[in-house]
Amino acid sequence: MKYVALLLCAAVAHGQLASPPDAEDTEPAPDVVSVQLRAAVQQGDDFRYAYNGLNPGPVIRARVGDTLVVTLTNGLDAPTTLHWHGLAVPWEMDGVTWMAEPVGPGEERVYTFPVQRPGTFWYHPHFDTERQVDAGLYGMLIVEGPADPPAPELLLVFDTAAEHQDPFPRHGHGRATRAPRWLVNGQPTPATWSGDAGENNRVRVLNASNVGYLAVEWPGLYQIAGKQGLLPAPRSPERVVLAPGQRAEFEWRLAERFTVSTAPYSLNGGAAHGEPLPLLDVEIDGEAPAPEALAWPFDGTAPSADVPHTDLLYALAGSDRTGDWRINGERFPDVTVHEVDHGAEVVFEVRNLSPTEHPFHLHGHHFEVLSVNGEPPRDRTIADTWNLRIRDTLRARFIADNPGDWMAHCHLLPHVGEGMMTVVRVRAP
Ligand code: C2O
Ligand code: CU
Ligand code: CU
Repeated sequence: MKYVALLLCAAVAHGQLASPPDAEDTEPAPDVVSVQLRAAVQQGDDFRYAYNGLNPGPVIRARVGDTLVVTLTNGLDAPTTLHWHGLAVPWEMDGVTWMAEPVGPGEERVYTFPVQRPGTFWYHPHFDTERQVDAGLYGMLIVEGPADPPAPELLLVFDTAAEHQDPFPRHGHGRATRAPRWLVNGQPTPATWSGDAGENNRVRVLNASNVGYLAVEWPGLYQIAGKQGLLPAPRSPERVVLAPGQRAEFEWRLAERFTVSTAPYSLNGGAAHGEPLPLLDVEIDGEAPAPEALAWPFDGTAPSADVPHTDLLYALAGSDRTGDWRINGERFPDVTVHEVDHGAEVVFEVRNLSPTEHPFHLHGHHFEVLSVNGEPPRDRTIADTWNLRIRDTLRARFIADNPGDWMAHCHLLPHVGEGMMTVVRVRAP
């Protein structure tokens, strides 16, 4: 069976980009998705890890209301875990090792939880995260919404290549001195993909890089979803910045060939000068006018009003020179655990006081952006990972409905390694 699948892949591949394959669902029940993941060293390459021999790992796909059952087998010679980035899972399933044991070499662990929100998420280890994600342990996790119009999908998982095999220095990296070499679905860029003229495609993008920022653009860019499902209304910005850990969805209405590029972007100052780097040449088979946009269930919701109080305040500080990255002056695990009541609406503020951008990520919840630098977002903006530009102040709120000790951290993984992570405790009901 495996051989057949491999041959089929090889037949369609032909130098053409293909989406990573879906993980096999071994559970016949319709509302349970059961998947096996085996983390192991890639044959003959000590620096590369993979799930089921694949990089990126297989795509886990479920529908809202399904129960996911993922059996992780640890074939590495080091402990590991699985974390479900962007999903609100019960705390015991979150894959962190703060007050929980990782999965030892040769051990197996079953992660199971219901999936409640549609969106494009991802999974990765949360033990020795910087090294294990860099070595290749990550994959996309898709939760399909009940009202989504059917459309062929293209999945794009980006990672930066330069880091592999060349354990990069802890200090000083992340500077804009050298453009990263991007891989898409494990292939070098620019890659080529072709679609049929007149077709609508749903394109889901994940930036799985430890440190690389994407600033994707193409003529007529049309964004339909952010990090936590559909936007309230579609957007056509000039470019979409995806910091490490972030996802976005687009609709491609195919008529003419175009090139997807990443604009020069530095985490030490945002948009930079220079030529865009081509990532994907989109070729079009046949001729047809661009189709109408698909009828996504956009709900047009306005943002919630900002409020005059703050429950949690996080100051991000540090510098590339010292590599000493901290939240509120503290280094994980020596952090103050802030406690909030179960069910409370928690308003938090994150201030970036450092000369570097940071994607701020919260576990166990999604949050609504109330304002950035005092400006409310145009429409309701739900996120789990938000990039703070230099000197940005983010104000956001979440409903503390998930009891447990939740990590809040920067998703530049070397910064986590330096301790840029803290804990918010949601009390038991
Ligand atoms: Cu993507 Cu704490 O993780
Ligand atoms: Cu996470
Ligand atoms: Cu950071």
